[in-house]
Amino acid sequence: MKDSTIVVILAAGLGTRFKSKLPKVLHSAGGRTLIDHVVRAVKPLASRATFAVIGYQAAQVEQALRSAGHGPGHEEVRLILQKQQLGTGHALAAGERQLRRATSSNKGTIMVVCGDTPLLTTATLRNLLAHHRRKRAIATVLTADMADPAAYGRILRSADGSLLAIVEWKSATSEQKKIREINTGIYCFETRELFPALKRVRKNPVSGEYYLTDVIELLAKAGHRLAACRAEDPDEVAGINDRAELARVDTLLRLRKARELMIAGVTIHSPETVRIDPDVTVGPDSTIEAGVYLNGRTKIGPECVIGAYSIITDSQLAARVTIKTSCVITESQVDDGASVGPFAHVRPGSQIGAGARIGDFVEIKKSRIGRLSRANHLAYIGDATVGEDVNIGAGTITVNYDGVNKHQTIIEDGAFIGSGSELIAPVRIGRGAFVAAGSTIHDHVPANALAIARARQSVKPGWMVERIRKLKKTPKSHS
Ligand code: UD1
Ligand code: CA
Repeated sequence: MKDSTIVVILAAGLGTRFKSKLPKVLHSAGGRTLIDHVVRAVKPLASRATFAVIGYQAAQVEQALRSAGHGPGHEEVRLILQKQQLGTGHALAAGERQLRRATSSNKGTIMVVCGDTPLLTTATLRNLLAHHRRKRAIATVLTADMADPAAYGRILRSADGSLLAIVEWKSATSEQKKIREINTGIYCFETRELFPALKRVRKNPVSGEYYLTDVIELLAKAGHRLAACRAEDPDEVAGINDRAELARVDTLLRLRKARELMIAGVTIHSPETVRIDPDVTVGPDSTIEAGVYLNGRTKIGPECVIGAYSIITDSQLAARVTIKTSCVITESQVDDGASVGPFAHVRPGSQIGAGARIGDFVEIKKSRIGRLSRANHLAYIGDATVGEDVNIGAGTITVNYDGVNKHQTIIEDGAFIGSGSELIAPVRIGRGAFVAAGSTIHDHVPANALAIARARQSVKPGWMVERIRKLKKTPKSHS
């Protein structure tokens, strides 16, 4: 049964109502592009092939499909080019040669799906296909009863309930607009009747487009057996036509992900405020506070706490890591039991060792911080390798950039860097060495040595008393 089905995703349109340079299907909701969601829903259905009709910014859409893993190779999405976007009927007709070939000319079923329905599930599509087969229909439309049918096409049925036609909202009479059963834009067609019917579709007088929906009326009039299958959840088949609808779907998808994690043992404060990308994993008994963003391929272990308003992207956190409020962590790794923040910035290529503590207003870039080391406040550590059990005082700066090149700082195990030190790279601070506060260090400090590099303080006893006496004696100048 599965073997004779191919799926076509219509994705050539510009999406006028998005008012965007970016094609509509490349806008994202729930951490994935709209088309990526649809491809993931349809792929398990089509054993022969999945096609996408592309047109507007075709190269960009193709590229996006590739980088989402739907490019050439195993289970590739094959592409049909619709050079001019003259409507959904025209889009399908553009693929006639490729689609006929893929369905061995006339046998087989073509399932058509729109590229702008990101909430669609495989289960619903399976259900549609099963319905189509059971009814031995030539065409089956997936319909839905919408509380607010808005601008969707309306389903017209005869008195006995059989499917007659789909009327687009723009052409519907005010009576027809009252119909709540709508066309989801998702169908099954038998290949042998689809293409002859598409050839008979005329340009719509209102929009000048060739509507795929007109095929239904043509097939009905020719006496073919048609079916309609109602989707159980109308939300799932919503087509996204503007950015307000995009935001609504994004919220739904984010809640879906948060719920999944909560069911798996993660505590989430105010789940409606967090944004967690679909590929993110979080271990049990971790807590995610309000307003947190977890992006990309971030992996968080068990028993971690992610403080409110932190943003973590493509990073790995081991077990029992604490990220306090308002941290930004990108492409980095934080090991067991380490603590970061509040207000810390961990930039790409960093690794914070087990039990290490990175405090407020500390910026770490492309650096390794060893086990149990501490930079508790106000420091910049860039291009550095910091050993174990190192103390980095407040206001320490690795001076890593000379205006042309970046240089390395090495701080070995057990070293102590006093507050307000500047370490002018390249420089090495030996094991157990002590850098006195306020030093500007540009030479190697040997192991266990003290380095002090600051101007000497001089003290003049009673100086202020003398000064005031002098000032009082001096007559005021009138100039
Ligand atoms: C379409 C249906 C409508 C249905 C709704 C469901 C038609 C005429 N109308 O309307 O009955 O209720 O979907 O969401 O089919 N596309 C192309 N090439 C084109 C035009 C569109 O590939 O020339 C693609 C778009 O990229 C999009 C899909 O087809 O993914 C649907 O097009 P859209 O303009 O969103 O159709 P609707 O007006 O929503
Ligand atoms: Ca649409």
